Amino acid sequence: MSRYTTLVISIFLLLVSLVLPLGLVFKLPLIGFFGCLSALGLYDMTQRRHAVLRNYPILGHIRYFFEMIRPEIRQYLIEDDQDEVPFSRDARAVVYQRAKNVEDKRAFGTKMAVYSSGYQWLTHSIKPKHIEDTDFRIDIGGPDCKQPYNASIYNISAMSFGALSANAILALNKGAKIGGFAHDTGEGGLSRYHREGGGDLIFEIGTGYFGCRDDDGNFSPEKFTKVAAEDQVKMIEIKLSQGAKPGQGGVLPAAKITPEIAEARGIPMGKTCRSPASHSAFDTPLEMMAFIKHLRELSHGKPIGFKLCIGHRREFMCIARAMLETDITPDFIVIDGKEGGTGAAPLEFANHMGMPLVEGLTFAHNTLRGVGLRDRISLGASGKLIHAFDIARTLALGADWCNSARGFMFAIGCIQAQACHTNHCPTGVTTQDPWRQNALDPESKAQRVANFHRNSLKALGDMTGAAGLDHPGKFLPHHLMMREKDRDMVTGQQVYPYMPEGFLLREEDDRFGYLSRWRRSSSASFEPFDDGV
Ligand SMILES: Cc1cc2nc3c(=O)[nH]c(=O)nc-3n(C[C@H](O)[C@H](O)[C@H](O)COP(=O)(O)O)c2cc1C
Repeated sequence: MSRYTTLVISIFLLLVSLVLPLGLVFKLPLIGFFGCLSALGLYDMTQRRHAVLRNYPILGHIRYFFEMIRPEIRQYLIEDDQDEVPFSRDARAVVYQRAKNVEDKRAFGTKMAVYSSGYQWLTHSIKPKHIEDTDFRIDIGGPDCKQPYNASIYNISAMSFGALSANAILALNKGAKIGGFAHDTGEGGLSRYHREGGGDLIFEIGTGYFGCRDDDGNFSPEKFTKVAAEDQVKMIEIKLSQGAKPGQGGVLPAAKITPEIAEARGIPMGKTCRSPASHSAFDTPLEMMAFIKHLRELSHGKPIGFKLCIGHRREFMCIARAMLETDITPDFIVIDGKEGGTGAAPLEFANHMGMPLVEGLTFAHNTLRGVGLRDRISLGASGKLIHAFDIARTLALGADWCNSARGFMFAIGCIQAQACHTNHCPTGVTTQDPWRQNALDPESKAQRVANFHRNSLKALGDMTGAAGLDHPGKFLPHHLMMREKDRDMVTGQQVYPYMPEGFLLREEDDRFGYLSRWRRSSSASFEPFDDGV
């Protein structure tokens, strides 16, 4: 509990200065100083707005002091540039402002190097539109779905109870309830805190089948049917992989397993909990389609989908081929970019495994167009989508909606301390330590979650209207421009074109290597039948 040391010392010194045999002239300033410091510390511990101050009374003010004088002393500081942290300070600042519902505009124009390679922008219109209602939504549910879900185009991405604290889950779900958008449970099962929040849920089934598993850790249709029947559960998502650690199972150390986590996951206490790297409920693309059909029956027709980070592109085509052969299609697919986040992952995986979002999304979108199934399946996307430009670009490249995990973590107070795997999160977001998570006040943070969502869609509405469109779903690759090699300007249509509908079925157009992979795909196995990938 070293984080309370400063407060304990100041209270001790206050008591000492009270009993010290000194003249009042000396005593009063001491009592005054340590009295104020102790009062400040006690106030910090009891206030509900700032989690850092609740966890680091008195000490936490140093952080805010430096934040306050940062603009003035920036040139003297070692700046945390892009390479140092996943999200720059400026990028996070906009999220904090939108969460707090305060002014999020910037003065003096862009800081971006608009003439350097990689700079991207959206084209605007001379005839812009004003969009009043920015609660943009889409219907998710294909031809076999009996209970389509009317979803916001921006939702909370999967983060499990276990990776996140109970208070974080509660704040996120209450925020989703206030804002009318969805909250993905992550692979850790559906907890009492999800239920308490009352917000719409996407129930995620990972390789550990937490929340719907039998005693041997395999999928339990009975337990699944019970969870899927809950009214809060609007969609079911099979997790194949996440961008930050594709092909890696999950590990929750025994020390982090609380009775509530054990209850939500359906696992024993005191034993490290491992989720395998791959599913046991299916082994081939055809079996995966059968599993999707099974889940749809057990859930009485709720939308069923899967989430993955694109690895071997041929494997995704194997799934598409199985869809064609079985005429079973998921209602949605979520593409996660390699740039996505996680509570914990080996560096090599976090840095060099899995396909970045832009390429993964374009590939999946075009493969589904290629087999003529794109209209039956909604495409979601996630991977560093915290600003309206990120969302607009992703919709232009083929997504129907976007999810964010760390954007909403910032909204509930995450300061990117990157201590998620230590259980010592300073803001109570990714810890099971009851003291630390107590610093996160679900009521006030829930409102910030809803604010962030609403203000992000408002910013998206402004960009959509400026482009002369009336819904962000109408952004297309030609609205996106980018600079290549410090001079050339290219459009998204040139770099990430929508391939023609049915081009794979007609075996035409082998641009970008789609056709050669399609010819090497099989619905009977994910294994390659030659030495290629
Ligand atoms: C703390 C944390 C826990 C996560 N847990 C899960 C999980 O249980 N299941 C999953 O599919 N993805 C999980 N993810 C990945 C996110 O859902 C998301 O796909 C990824 O972080 C990209 O979004 P972002 O850039 O907005 O964070 C987790 C991410 C974080 C940061």
